[in-house]
Amino acid sequence: MTTHDPGAMLSIGDFAARAGVTTSALRYYESLDLIRSVRTAGNQRRYRRAELRRVAFIRAAQTVGLSLDEIKAALDRLPERRVPDRADWQRLSADWRRRIEDRIARLRDLQEDLDGCIGCGCLSIDRCAIYNREDALGEEGAGPRLGFQTP
Ligand code: FES
Repeated sequence: MTTHDPGAMLSIGDFAARAGVTTSALRYYESLDLIRSVRTAGNQRRYRRAELRRVAFIRAAQTVGLSLDEIKAALDRLPERRVPDRADWQRLSADWRRRIEDRIARLRDLQEDLDGCIGCGCLSIDRCAIYNREDALGEEGAGPRLGFQTP
């Protein structure tokens, strides 16, 4: 067995070092069933080298903004009975394109709003898009929208 063998087994410390994450992160991912290990006779975790790609996927997906639930749903689509190949991983990441494009569009909007705010600094509740960016109720009009109703 070589170190490039996807079936090679790594201790949690070696696996964490290669994956660039902490051992506690690995335990957490494992508790969510995002990665899997096997136990030795002494009850120590051993990870298949192929699991490194799952950790890389998790970290990249978090960067794109996927929740751990979404990541789990994506990983559950990988084949169970064989080591996932390049095509399997590409299918998963193709779903990210729309999400990245949405994020870029939101950042562009924010950049345009920032242009109006530079040098202002008022953070006005009424008119500042940065301070009150997600104010959906604000589209209904100015002032409080969910206050107490008088009979
Ligand atoms: S800081 Fe004044 S409008 Fe945004």
